[in-house]
Amino acid sequence: MSNITITNHPLIQHKLSILRRTSTSSKDFRTLIKEIATLLCYEATRDLPLHEIEIETPICTTKAMALDGKKLAVVPILRAGLGMVDGMLDLVPSARVGHIGLYRDPETLKPVEYYCKLPADIAERDVFVVDPMLATGGSAIDAISQIKLRKPRNIKFVCIISAPEGVKALQEAHPDVEIFCAAMDEKLNEHGYIVPGLGDAGDRIFGTK
Ligand code: PRP
Ligand code: URA
Repeated sequence: MSNITITNHPLIQHKLSILRRTSTSSKDFRTLIKEIATLLCYEATRDLPLHEIEIETPICTTKAMALDGKKLAVVPILRAGLGMVDGMLDLVPSARVGHIGLYRDPETLKPVEYYCKLPADIAERDVFVVDPMLATGGSAIDAISQIKLRKPRNIKFVCIISAPEGVKALQEAHPDVEIFCAAMDEKLNEHGYIVPGLGDAGDRIFGTK
């Protein structure tokens, strides 16, 4: 089974409470999604390799650490994953960005793919797949299967709210993919929405409902 890290830092919990509220505007919703993505990125990049360098401070020469410069890619699942991209890039600005377009059929709850454009050199990269919601897990599982066809070095999945059903399905389908999220909620309702959740993430980011 893949690992799951639930980052329940006080700043994340506070922002998540505002995010969940029906009364939160689309503008504030977008800001919060971006900010939480940055905080989750901090956790998801915890194992980036470092090497020792020598630097000059105004006082003396000293040893310090620098990133190895591992190649990274961020791949949002459209639409709602787009809301997390800038928050991730704030911490890893040289990452390349791919896009996978999937929507969940409202009747079957199965993902339908409509777009896929990934960095040409993705096989040399560590990939962070981002989507605010992990509900049944169908979208994440399909997106990761698509990306795996291109043989990236490693894949991590970063979401904001997960449901136990989606986490289990994703862990079973892709046991090698580490999951990072801000909260695991109680369950899914009969329409496949996360309870208590935050409603439809895409509609709330883009104000489409
Ligand atoms: C939402 C969400 C995930 C998916 C999660 O997207 O952003 O991609 O549902 O559900 P699942 O785990 O059951 O697959 P949606 O299909 O509503 O598309 P949108 O982002 O374009 O609104
Ligand atoms: N997609 C969403 O946007 N919200 C949910 O609760 C489930 C799937």
